[in-house]
Amino acid sequence: MIVLGIESSCDETAAAVVKDGRDVLSSVIFSQIHLHSPYGGVVPEIASRSHVEVVPSVIEEAVSKSGLEWRDLDAIAVTYGPGLASSLLVGISMAKSLALRLNIPLWAINHLHGHIYSAFLAPNAINFTTACPFLSLVVSGGHTCLVRVDDFDEMKLLGQTVDDAAGEAFDKGATLLGLGYPGGPIIDKTARTGDPKFIKFPQGRLSAKAPVGSLDPSLCFSFSGLKTALRYYLESNPISDDRHEVPSIVASYQEAIIGAIVSRCEKALGEMKLLVTGGGVSLNSRLRERLQELADKKDIKLMQTPPAYCGDNAAMIAALAGMNHGITGNAAMSIDAEPSLRIV
Ligand code: KG4
Ligand code: ZN
Repeated sequence: MIVLGIESSCDETAAAVVKDGRDVLSSVIFSQIHLHSPYGGVVPEIASRSHVEVVPSVIEEAVSKSGLEWRDLDAIAVTYGPGLASSLLVGISMAKSLALRLNIPLWAINHLHGHIYSAFLAPNAINFTTACPFLSLVVSGGHTCLVRVDDFDEMKLLGQTVDDAAGEAFDKGATLLGLGYPGGPIIDKTARTGDPKFIKFPQGRLSAKAPVGSLDPSLCFSFSGLKTALRYYLESNPISDDRHEVPSIVASYQEAIIGAIVSRCEKALGEMKLLVTGGGVSLNSRLRERLQELADKKDIKLMQTPPAYCGDNAAMIAALAGMNHGITGNAAMSIDAEPSLRIV
């Protein structure tokens, strides 16, 4: 099955053509970062206007780069949530029109399931069914979740953040340090020359009585206190003019985020023998290194999403439709954007 995927949930306009849920024939991503960086975060109105402007050319480029013709497409897949309502609607409207025009089925896909599946797009990856059960870590700008995956329709949320997502912690920390936006990649790079033990920042553990519903508080995350700890630190220890201490402050801050993620993964793994990562923050080089150390220590397998598919992309969306996972038929043609769609 050849699927054209469309993704417009946040600040990337993306389209991809994927064969049989595995072979990525093309993947085009137009990033809007340059439009939002002056504001230090994503501005929803700017995002949706930019999606409207570029989505036709991004889709045309994806079809043309796949080497196929429009008539070769068997289905259209689109993200219907979670994300920014006005951004999601652009992709959904375009996908519905294309499905009608080409007279092929539409698939509506949960963006978070896309991040869970993205590791399986690696050329040498084992297939999804063989991999189950596994622990999925999704760490992005909007989400931080640990999910036990037994099958596409059998996922259990084990832990999640109760406030900021890991990516937000990176972005807000970088803003406090005056490093720019988005903070993740800048912090990743700056931390490489710093000492991660320079400051001991809190790792956001929740008390055993924290109100997290049926979840185990020890598998949940809280990053808002970390950001406040950094603010207090900077207030009492102003950065010197030559900024020589910045790499070590950054490395310590990053280590607190990563320490929180790695310790929760270790606990959540239980008897599971495979850890699968996805989302923009899973690009982080120190996180990748620490997760590999964890995998070696626990003698488990680790599947990290290839860098090209860590951030938002449409290949993961098209691939899920190719695996027959998502909503299709009349339900998809009448679907609306679901900004708060949950992982399970
Ligand atoms: O998955 P993504 O592209 O979009 C969402 O669905 O949110 O993730 C974007 C997030 C941003 O917060 C960005 O700072 C973070 O991923 N990020 C990183 C790195 N690259 C991107 N965080 C840490 N280290 C990185 N190398
Ligand atoms: Zn995402």
